[in-house]
Amino acid sequence: MKRVLAGIRATSNLHLGNYLGAVKGMLELQKNDEYETFYMVADLHAITTPFNPQSLIKDRYEVVLDYLACGIDPSKSTLFLQSEVPEHAELSFYLASLVTIARMQHLPTFKDKIKESSQGASLALLNYPILMAGDILLYKADLVPVGIDQEPHLEVAREIARKLNQNYNLDFPEPTRFATTGEYVPSLTGEGKMSKSVAGSSIKLTDSLDQISLKLASVPTDSGKGDTIPLSGGVATLLKLIELFVDTNKRKFYEEQYLGEGIRYKELKENLAQVIFDDLLPIQKRRIEYEKDPKKVETIVQEGSVRAGEVAKSNLNEIKKAMGFLSN
Ligand code: ADP
Ligand code: TRP
Repeated sequence: MKRVLAGIRATSNLHLGNYLGAVKGMLELQKNDEYETFYMVADLHAITTPFNPQSLIKDRYEVVLDYLACGIDPSKSTLFLQSEVPEHAELSFYLASLVTIARMQHLPTFKDKIKESSQGASLALLNYPILMAGDILLYKADLVPVGIDQEPHLEVAREIARKLNQNYNLDFPEPTRFATTGEYVPSLTGEGKMSKSVAGSSIKLTDSLDQISLKLASVPTDSGKGDTIPLSGGVATLLKLIELFVDTNKRKFYEEQYLGEGIRYKELKENLAQVIFDDLLPIQKRRIEYEKDPKKVETIVQEGSVRAGEVAKSNLNEIKKAMGFLSN
């Protein structure tokens, strides 16, 4: 059976970008009997940028709850914590021997994060894509449901898989990204992508109708009409959200208004807030059920981590033997 592996960093609650770009793909693959699905909370990746231990403990739990709330079903998918399976950290060290420092330094994701950090980047940050490649290879995953921003990391994972196979005569699959229609959700600020680390950029899955309305109200707009449809900025974000949460016809309807009599943004934003909230309501209800039963949530993750550990150990041993760390 083919395998799927995906992860989300343990750095606060999920937003619409995480949901549409990653979780929706995870849910689609979970439904497909041809795939065995492994979904993790990437808590090791959370320490590649400044963090504090109290928040990490909380965020790990919050992301597990978000996964379950979205419909990740522990009877179908293995839900686990990356740090509970020590093979992840171990493999990243072996794989680091296959990668040059220059290749890592030139990644756009690394360059962007350096700009965000005032204290200078850590070696853990440089190692980020190697750790991620290891996450995927440990499960011999073919498919990885992630947003388009992760494509450079998947390219690295494929390069590492090729080198590993060539150097040690192994046969690990080269993973491909499983894309969704929401593979890129733009920021509410009108600049860049919706992101956990950029304040004011996102709508959280846990936001109330009032919170969503307030956030949409602050999306920057223009006079409402013009000769060409804006491709960037707040108006482009609103049109993209309409496309994703209503449909392309509604988007066209607003585009025609923009080119004609003009869009009334207040009305558009109020309608959009309601549509987004209606989509989030079942997720929020499921979350409340799981929040009432922390023991159950803990058991799900413990059992998932044991199951993931079995697969990871067996695949890691294959690599260790091939590299000369284990005799046959
Ligand atoms: P963030 O980028 O907000 O810090 P993560 O790095 O933990 O969040 O991303 C988790 C998953 O969500 C990844 O698969 C990533 O590609 C996806 N993702 C994050 N932001 C977006 C976005 N704005 N649009 C689509 N997918 C996104
Ligand atoms: N780097 C991913 C992100 O920021 C999170 C992640 C870590 C991941 N390991 C992974 C995603 C393995 C897919 C597969 O979104």
